[in-house]
Amino acid sequence: MKVIGLCASPRGENSNVKVALETALEAAAAKGAETELIDVAKLQIMGCQADNYCKAHDGKCAIDDDMQKVYKAIEEADGIILGTPIYFIDVTAQAKLVIDRMYSYFMHEPSKELFSKKNFSIITTNGGLEEEVFMPQIKAQFLAFEMLGFQTKDLVNLPGNNDPLAIKENEDQLEAARKVGENII
Ligand SMILES: Cc1cc2nc3c(=O)[nH]c(=O)nc-3n(C[C@H](O)[C@H](O)[C@H](O)COP(=O)(O)O)c2cc1C
Repeated sequence: MKVIGLCASPRGENSNVKVALETALEAAAAKGAETELIDVAKLQIMGCQADNYCKAHDGKCAIDDDMQKVYKAIEEADGIILGTPIYFIDVTAQAKLVIDRMYSYFMHEPSKELFSKKNFSIITTNGGLEEEVFMPQIKAQFLAFEMLGFQTKDLVNLPGNNDPLAIKENEDQLEAARKVGENII
């Protein structure tokens, strides 16, 4: 059983959503999972080029960049947790690069079959904007992963996290992140 966290905040060690992912992964590890956190915002990932190479090459993307490592990690994982801050009422650009590159698997039946055994959750952090303003966009990304075949599980937002590492003082939010890690298994 392997669970991976994909961190799409550019803040690195100061990131709130990274702490939430680490907390979720610790909870998954406590239930026996092997875990890995991938800082996707620190990788070199191009946007999808819409060349449809993948459609003629068994779901493989032609772009030879760091997304290839992410593809491999997703294919090998049983559970995937995407962590993204809310940027202008949506996921970060870094998260969207990864999501768009998942297009290589779209309508590829063997991938859909593979992903049907994998759980997918999203954790978001934000400042002060009300959830009803941005949740429709995040739910739409959740739907994209459903269309790819994943079993979608939790979608949790952790608000009030503008200051670097503010979440560390919020036990309720850390507990919410733990629950995501427990549920993903
Ligand atoms: C470019 C940018 C856009 C943002 N847009 C929003 C927003 O629309 N709504 C909101 O509540 N917070 C917004 N924020 C605040 C972040 O969502 C918040 O600080 C988040 O917790 C940061 O997560 P991190 O520490 O993991 O990077 C924005 C921050 C940045 C840098």
